[in-house]
Amino acid sequence: MNSAVPVLTVDGPSGSGKGTISALVAQRLGWHLLDSGALYRLVAFGAGRHQIDLADETALAEYAAGLDVSFELVPGATEVRILLEGEPVGAAIRTEACGNSASRVAALGRVREALLQRQRDFRQPPGLVADGRDMGTVVFPDAEVKIFLTASVEERARRRYKQLIEKGISANLADLMKEIAERDARDTQRAVSPLKPAADAVVLDTSEMNINEVVDKVLALCRERFDNLPQ
Ligand code: C5P
Repeated sequence: MNSAVPVLTVDGPSGSGKGTISALVAQRLGWHLLDSGALYRLVAFGAGRHQIDLADETALAEYAAGLDVSFELVPGATEVRILLEGEPVGAAIRTEACGNSASRVAALGRVREALLQRQRDFRQPPGLVADGRDMGTVVFPDAEVKIFLTASVEERARRRYKQLIEKGISANLADLMKEIAERDARDTQRAVSPLKPAADAVVLDTSEMNINEVVDKVLALCRERFDNLPQ
């Protein structure tokens, strides 16, 4: 583990704002970004493409270990371009169906193990913002700053609805609320790496906060801990 490189971990449930906050903070700091959820989504998506059964842990772990993926930075944008087996996957991995399949494959210990080193390899100078569920507890337990973002199920469903509609993906608020509650249950109750704040994480409830307020709060916590950060 390259423990000389600083890491900020941002964990929390679906729709807590992790993705947006992590991307904005990484951009402000000029640090790398690890979207670990995308890796689980890619395994689920690729499994569909290769007709691998979502319950076949051995085959999924093998596929995850050899996952042919690259993350390309798009200059000026907060999103990265993701290529799976050489092809851009874009919105295909962002659907609720793919998120739900991702949460199923993410419950399998051998899949998580297969992705562990790949995630740690993102720790490159000048620093890393790691977005996920177990960044502070399992993947980067020695991270200097750990944030756990939460928000009510209703608020998270509303945010997800807005996000999907903006991306041109159709959505239904009541269905989203139900799916988010189900995904929370699966993510928090699984035996391996369950979703929970690290003992040394700062827990931020963002239900009543806007994106700028959360970004400012996270940057303030980083400035308390790290010297020489860009203003
Ligand atoms: O964050 P995102 O919604 O893209 O993640 C999709 C799913 O991947 C989550 O519901 C969760 O089950 C799983 N995941 C995980 N550990 C991570 C990131 C995501 O188990 N570090």
